[in-house]
Amino acid sequence: MDIKFVKAKTLKEKPDQSNLPFGRIFTDYMFTMDYDPENGWHNATIEPYGPISLDPSACVFHYAQEVFEGTKAYKTPDGHVQLFRPQENFARLNRSAKRLCIPPIDEDFALEALKQLVEIEKDWIPTAPGTSLYIRPFIFATENYIGVHVSSTYKFFIILCPVGSYYEDGLKPAVMHIEQVYARTVAGGTGEAKCGGNYAGSLAATEKANEEGYEETLWLDGATRKNIEEVGSCNIMFKIDGKFVTPKLTGTILPGITRKSIIQLLKSWGETVEERVLPIQELLDDYHAGKVEEVFGMGTAAVVAPIGKLNYAGEDMVFNNDEIGPSAQKIYDTLVGIQHGTVEDPFNWVVKV
Ligand code: COI
Repeated sequence: MDIKFVKAKTLKEKPDQSNLPFGRIFTDYMFTMDYDPENGWHNATIEPYGPISLDPSACVFHYAQEVFEGTKAYKTPDGHVQLFRPQENFARLNRSAKRLCIPPIDEDFALEALKQLVEIEKDWIPTAPGTSLYIRPFIFATENYIGVHVSSTYKFFIILCPVGSYYEDGLKPAVMHIEQVYARTVAGGTGEAKCGGNYAGSLAATEKANEEGYEETLWLDGATRKNIEEVGSCNIMFKIDGKFVTPKLTGTILPGITRKSIIQLLKSWGETVEERVLPIQELLDDYHAGKVEEVFGMGTAAVVAPIGKLNYAGEDMVFNNDEIGPSAQKIYDTLVGIQHGTVEDPFNWVVKV
């Protein structure tokens, strides 16, 4: 399928890179494509970024039939543009789409469309330390019918935004609250799909956590509230007694691409990584025994986000004196180095645009 190009009348001014927020500034162009049963996915277009018009009865507004992704583009010191494991994102988008009864996209075509869009927008890729061009592909249901049903029509978009750190304080350790009342998901739910509904359902807990001075929520499993699952915006890793431990993917946790990459990286360094059920009681016991060395979040937006404090039932657990630990720093430097082309990529993760 050819991709139509609609030229913008004017281009926006590029933002100051020294203080880029996350997710508020968007580039000049976006990719769009439509689905209907007769034509399948069609009408692929790169057009000026801007508002779209939808009927108020469009399914997505009522029953949240929507899936999305997050990936990034980087500029290397010699000016090349590269993506980090984008095939994984489109594969996960299709897995999420299947769970939400959304028709699959052609992953190779989506990657080609992304490359074309990023090539056009390459001057928007920031190069200041800690910055990148965040990529947000998403698909939503557009049929104008408010009966609860699977939509017959959809739109697929890719939008881009130059970003700095997801957490305002960058690599300064975050303070998180372990949620005991609300649940993010349960077995058989949509926990492992990347769909807007999961995040909508998490907002009340995050609001409560924010009001109490925490940046984020750490979720326990919805059925027993006994086992650690994931942070609101990323996966979580613990370094306990010399070993790395992360909750295993049981169907309720988002299968993070950064998580997967960090596990591969750690194993390549000869570290022990355990993907397993991690009970909160075990963490408390290990913490009281002085065995918890480091805790950090892992995600595309969050990258490697050290966690300095976790509050559980009124008790603050403080890790590594509330400073970024040596392992988190080494992982951050290596991963970001591979993404920006300053560290060799032995895994072939990087895709050149
Ligand atoms: C990402 O890390 O790209 C995400 O999609 C997380 C999002 C909730 C900011």
